[in-house]
Amino acid sequence: MTTIIERPRQVLAPRAVERLVRGQATSDGAGVKLTRVLTQPLQRRLDPFLMLDAFKSDNPGDYIGGFPDHPHRGFETITYMIAGRMRHRDSTGGEGVLENGGVQWMVAGRGVIHSELPEQEDGLMEGFQLWLNLPAQDKMTAPWYRDIPTGAIPEVTTPEGVTVRVVAGESHGVAGVQQRPVTEPLYLDVHLPAGSRFEQPIPAGHNAFVYVYRGEVAVGAEAERVPERTMAILANGADRDGVTLQACTAPARVLLIAGAPLKEPIAQYGPFVMNTADQIQQTLADYQAGRIGR
Ligand code: FE2
Repeated sequence: MTTIIERPRQVLAPRAVERLVRGQATSDGAGVKLTRVLTQPLQRRLDPFLMLDAFKSDNPGDYIGGFPDHPHRGFETITYMIAGRMRHRDSTGGEGVLENGGVQWMVAGRGVIHSELPEQEDGLMEGFQLWLNLPAQDKMTAPWYRDIPTGAIPEVTTPEGVTVRVVAGESHGVAGVQQRPVTEPLYLDVHLPAGSRFEQPIPAGHNAFVYVYRGEVAVGAEAERVPERTMAILANGADRDGVTLQACTAPARVLLIAGAPLKEPIAQYGPFVMNTADQIQQTLADYQAGRIGR
């Protein structure tokens, strides 16, 4: 599913880089080593996004434990595998294997219990998990999940040879494989040959960031350098109409993520994200009583 576009739309007033973030090394699940790029203190700034974890290792000890059964309530998780195989099972009866280039989109809604376990004993495991908040009115919606194999993800190639995998939202006239109301997420995996330039319109009111996972890119009119394994938060501005990226001397790969802020209170306790402390207390009571995932 590849579309070649002829005339890219123009971004006339690109956003600048507001801040570079390297993320924090941490571990989660049964000892999986990862980098938490979008951490809790950035949730308000990057509303509606709550978390971005990046994992990459060819040491099985860093990932073999996986993420055994655990609950979620109140948001969505989007898992994107670059390399490796993970098996997902959840309390809705959903099960599937997520592998090279595939995406799993899960709406936890009122609650799921799920596991994410590696289906490999060695080799490279690389990918990302993004948490996207649900609007208050949808936090107790019925849970669902969708396995999206790599071949189902639309791709666009620009005249400069930049390939864009459109997971969510739209790029250069090509709709992503998944759309969501209210938060209107944009999720692009952009592959830039050395020296190539790419532009993407983004609504001025949306919060946006890029995460460079290969190479280095220059962002915006100031061409601020964003090195590998770094997130750049893009500055908002009423007159800013998008983002421009340019690969430096080597090819680069970048996640470009944006969405409409919810501007609602955020109350998080581990894997539960609600709006108030009372709702978190209720969620803990529900979990202890076995009412999550039923
Ligand atoms: Fe999970």
